[in-house]
Amino acid sequence: MGMKSDIKLIDDNGLRIDGRLPNQLRPIKMEVGVLKRADGSAYIEWGGNKIIAAVYGPREAYPKHIQDPNKAIVRARYNMASFSVDERKKPGPDRRSVELSKVISEALESVIFTERFPRTTIDVFIEVLQADAGTRVAGITVASLALADAGIPMKDLIVGCAAGKIDGVVVLDLNKEEDNYGEADVPMAIIPRTKEIALLQMDGDMSYEELITAMDMAMEAAQEIHRMQIEALKRKYTEIEEVE
Ligand code: CDP
Repeated sequence: MGMKSDIKLIDDNGLRIDGRLPNQLRPIKMEVGVLKRADGSAYIEWGGNKIIAAVYGPREAYPKHIQDPNKAIVRARYNMASFSVDERKKPGPDRRSVELSKVISEALESVIFTERFPRTTIDVFIEVLQADAGTRVAGITVASLALADAGIPMKDLIVGCAAGKIDGVVVLDLNKEEDNYGEADVPMAIIPRTKEIALLQMDGDMSYEELITAMDMAMEAAQEIHRMQIEALKRKYTEIEEVE
């Protein structure tokens, strides 16, 4: 977050550098069932982010001593391709990706009926091919589609969405410049049907009132993203019906 700078993030008309209104999402495209060998998969383009998710399982947890006799273990692995960012990222896990994998695993677990699959693992691979801020929330959104594609029972499709503050204005879905030079970024994972929050982080600083406004914005956008997820699932499964 924000080295304070002279870069203007909101212009005189109240528009952002990519022309968006404060409460406007970047363009989002989703596709379900993009990989043949995974049990479930999905792809998302969200602004400048391009992310693929693959799900394997539930399958018997191995080695056996990691098995939980009462539920499935949800293991998400967030990985950034070395070519996904401006400065080549050293391949392999680093502190950031280990932390993100952990919080994403917990967010996904909150919607999965894990108790139906004791002694198994559900592996979720999130591969960031191109990064432009908001990859953890886009990763959660696309992972949720891949889980649905794998037929894993969930109480709802979970949605990731961020809001924050730039040039003193509360805005939805920060892009890279806004993330770099803005005042605050608040990534969230939201369960749209119940409006539960399964992940809430904040980087930077903002007032209590601004935080509430940012959360409201993300909550509203989550309903819209949820509709896109359902449309993406329908597109895949109606196509298959037509072929058969
Ligand atoms: O992607 P997200 O906003 O969830 O996480 P972040 O740690 O706040 O990173 C924000 C953005 O910084 C990423 O989306 C990337 O575009 C960029 N980044 C980078 O260029 N190099 C890294 N090693 C990590 C992040």
